[in-house]
Amino acid sequence: MATKRDFLTLADWSHEELAALLDDAARLKAELKAGRPHPLLAGKSLGMIFEKASTRTRVSFETGMFQLGGHALNLSGRDMQLGRGETLEDTAHVLSRYLDGILIRTFGHDKLERLAAAASIPVINGLTDTYHPCQVLTDLFTLRERFGDLTGMGVAFVGDGNNMAHSWLLGAALFGMDFRLATPPGYRPDGAVVARAEEIAQTHGATLSIGDDPAAAVDGVVAVHTDTWVSMGDEASEAERLAAFQPYRVDAALMAHAADDAVFMHCLPAHRGDEVTAELFDGPRSIVFDQAENRLHVQKAILVRLLAQPHE
Ligand code: CP
Ligand code: NVA
Repeated sequence: MATKRDFLTLADWSHEELAALLDDAARLKAELKAGRPHPLLAGKSLGMIFEKASTRTRVSFETGMFQLGGHALNLSGRDMQLGRGETLEDTAHVLSRYLDGILIRTFGHDKLERLAAAASIPVINGLTDTYHPCQVLTDLFTLRERFGDLTGMGVAFVGDGNNMAHSWLLGAALFGMDFRLATPPGYRPDGAVVARAEEIAQTHGATLSIGDDPAAAVDGVVAVHTDTWVSMGDEASEAERLAAFQPYRVDAALMAHAADDAVFMHCLPAHRGDEVTAELFDGPRSIVFDQAENRLHVQKAILVRLLAQPHE
């Protein structure tokens, strides 16, 4: 009997397992480009529950399932009985009788954990308030594709200590990287996530630094990553956020502190003129659309790993 696995945070998976996923993603990408896609998930169905908006996650997972010979159902949380009070646990039990996997994008990470605990099929985190592991695994893939081995690689994340920053802390720790986070003092990452990342970093020889100086964070790195200043769910504090984050805009002057061949990264959607200047976002250093494309390849690797085996 196969034991089901979930993909809830990067820390649930070992470095070796994540590295194997990156290798699988590279192979799947090459096979797709060569016109040789394999129907590894023929007959399999993925249910995708979205309680927040999405362009990339929804389209790349749906297309990925199609390319693998399977099928994806787009389920809006609002239109399900979940939106009228049916419990997450009952929803998980029912979906487990129909489907082979569930992707969910929701608010509290505890909701994802409850769904995964009750489901007998694999559950994938399509973003919660606390983590965005599919995006950051893709970011790691994109950097490895461009610069090679991730060990010791310098990456800065400038902006909000949010779900992206949390997943980056874990991902950088697991891959032994030199990761620097610069946030305004009031927007630091969650202490428990930092503690977990520090623990993992020690095992893998990673260095993690967290401060409030963007120029110091960016010094010599090969990639500068940012994200929106107002994540989904943070809309009520938009005005104070826009004020607090002004010194954290990524622009050409900040990039000048990075390595000569450093790239600009963003998970998207972006807000030109806020977290990044239009000139940088639309310029030659920007690899944001490579990141977006690679969601497809990396998530296909995750799907194959989780769904290719029958689950009890
Ligand atoms: N980066 C990302 O997850 O994009 P979507 O919100 O469009 O899915
Ligand atoms: N931090 C952003 C990421 C969007 C992909 C949010 O949670 O809205």
